[in-house]
Amino acid sequence: MDVKSVGVIGAGQMGNGIAHVLALAEYDVLLNDVSQDALDSAVATIEGNLARQASKGKISDEMMQATLSRINTTLELPQLGQTDLVIEAATEREAIKQAIFEDLQPHLLPHTILTSNTSSISITRLASRTDRPERFMGFHFMNPVPVMQLVELIRGIATDEETFKSCKAVVDRLGKTAASAEDFPAFIVNRILMPMINEAVYTLYEGVGSVQSIDQSMRLGANHPMGPLELADFIGLDTCLAIMNVLHDGLADTKYRPCPLLTKYVEAGWLGRKTERGFYDYRGETPVPTR
Ligand code: CAA
Repeated sequence: MDVKSVGVIGAGQMGNGIAHVLALAEYDVLLNDVSQDALDSAVATIEGNLARQASKGKISDEMMQATLSRINTTLELPQLGQTDLVIEAATEREAIKQAIFEDLQPHLLPHTILTSNTSSISITRLASRTDRPERFMGFHFMNPVPVMQLVELIRGIATDEETFKSCKAVVDRLGKTAASAEDFPAFIVNRILMPMINEAVYTLYEGVGSVQSIDQSMRLGANHPMGPLELADFIGLDTCLAIMNVLHDGLADTKYRPCPLLTKYVEAGWLGRKTERGFYDYRGETPVPTR
């Protein structure tokens, strides 16, 4: 199926990046959220990120304007039922995602493909509660979406080949690279990345290193663009904890035990950059380690 229009659910960190790259690749995008403020701030973020790309000569001013004009916003979820492909990028909680798919289902065109940008939740389980498990799959972008090259495509047990091919064609048109992952907890990237981040938090918890020495070690000693604690703040500590819990519950192996210090930061509401405090405090001019 030739996808022309895409509905994106959730205008947060991932949703705004997804809308940005889709519109830049000339898809008509309908961005939905439950809050008008979230929609307004997503459009402002997209405009800022497009301006950054224009100022570096990566896109022209005309492309920037055309991209913005292809993005429409709505508070009405049913309107997304008229699109060819829906990418759900709401909060990483299964009950929320399930409720969204339930509310949307009666309004869907017969051919619409449903996908989720979930970073860890079972695609097969999400799909099984819809009327179209064969036209349902995982469509997992990396953050920051306009910069990162990879998209993980995850087939549920029932996903058909046509759905996979349609989604792969979208990834190709975005100029990104698709990696096909099987539907097991956290797929490929987060199955490997999150235990590393969790181990970095244990390294801090056990006093092996400070926030600064742990991040510096991995930046300079392993050539990672960001240290693991800096990256955890960037992703969101609540998301990191949610993924560790999915790994721990789904694979029933103690090696995935979330570090108690990670849980403590999340309980404090210190979720990283988005709340201006996590392993670093971002409220001043330069980030200051919180331990
Ligand atoms: N939109 C558009 N362009 C952006 C951007 C955005 N949101 N963020 C950064 N850029 C561009 C910059 O303009 C810059 O462009 P040039 O190369 O043309 O100069 C380039 O990206 C690099 O940015 P900066 O110079 O500002 O900063 P940097 O060199 O430190 O790179 C970074 C920033 C790309 C984020 C880099 O630090 C990095 O790659 N970090 C690791 C990110 C990562 O691991 N992401 C995956 C997280 S896991 C995930 O997402 C999965 C999940 O489910 C949790």
